[in-house]
Amino acid sequence: MQAATDRQPVRFLVFAASLRCGSLNRRLLELAARTIEANGGEVDLSSMERFDVPSYDADVQAGEGFPRAAEEFRDCILASDAFVIASPEYNFSMPGLLKNSIDWVSRFSPQPFSERHGLLMSASPSMAGGNRGLWSLRVPLEHLGARVYPDMFSLAQAHQAFDADGRLANPELQERFEHNIVRFMDLVEASKHYPCVKTRWVEYLGEHPDPTIDRVE
Ligand SMILES: Cc1cc2nc3c(=O)[nH]c(=O)nc-3n(C[C@H](O)[C@H](O)[C@H](O)COP(=O)(O)O)c2cc1C
Repeated sequence: MQAATDRQPVRFLVFAASLRCGSLNRRLLELAARTIEANGGEVDLSSMERFDVPSYDADVQAGEGFPRAAEEFRDCILASDAFVIASPEYNFSMPGLLKNSIDWVSRFSPQPFSERHGLLMSASPSMAGGNRGLWSLRVPLEHLGARVYPDMFSLAQAHQAFDADGRLANPELQERFEHNIVRFMDLVEASKHYPCVKTRWVEYLGEHPDPTIDRVE
């Protein structure tokens, strides 16, 4: 793991898709924000209240234009290199308010999710941790061209998972959580700062080094 001071500048928009006071997803998100900052990233810690918009209506868009909150959501995505969403699972899917905000933002041209890296996480009192909702959230984000990180973190039994300091009480789980975030940060940093990095590719590690057959990708 690299030292936080070695990292090139990377900025993350982070928010939880719950309006509820005492939201478990908000707690998980705040831990993610702390972890990003501790590992040298810059955080825009936002909230769903800020991005909450009236139900999408094409007539409103045509007549009145975009709601201020949709513009704000678009601007925050554009101002960051990547986003992190902690989303509750509602009935095996994402909350309607989050889908509604994504729908509004998708009507901007250009739309801001394109080629943005995203990390998804969830928290639920259930044993599945809200993971099924994240699979539904991947669909519109990937459709819009977001680079959704393969490893999603879903915190099971979240109502009893945090310690008094807001960390995960189970040390192994806490380590797994941090590891997932730092690997994601590494990817975002590499994508932003080292887009042309070259790695030597050798088909079999036991091959004798030979410049005529070694390839560079
Ligand atoms: C309408 C509704 C549907 C829900 N459906 C699910 C579900 O399908 N799976 C699940 O694990 N929890 C479900 N829950 C429970 C939520 O995961 C739980 O309330 C969670 O704490 C909400 O996230 P928050 O604490 O960040 O607000 C549902 C809750 C609501 C209000």
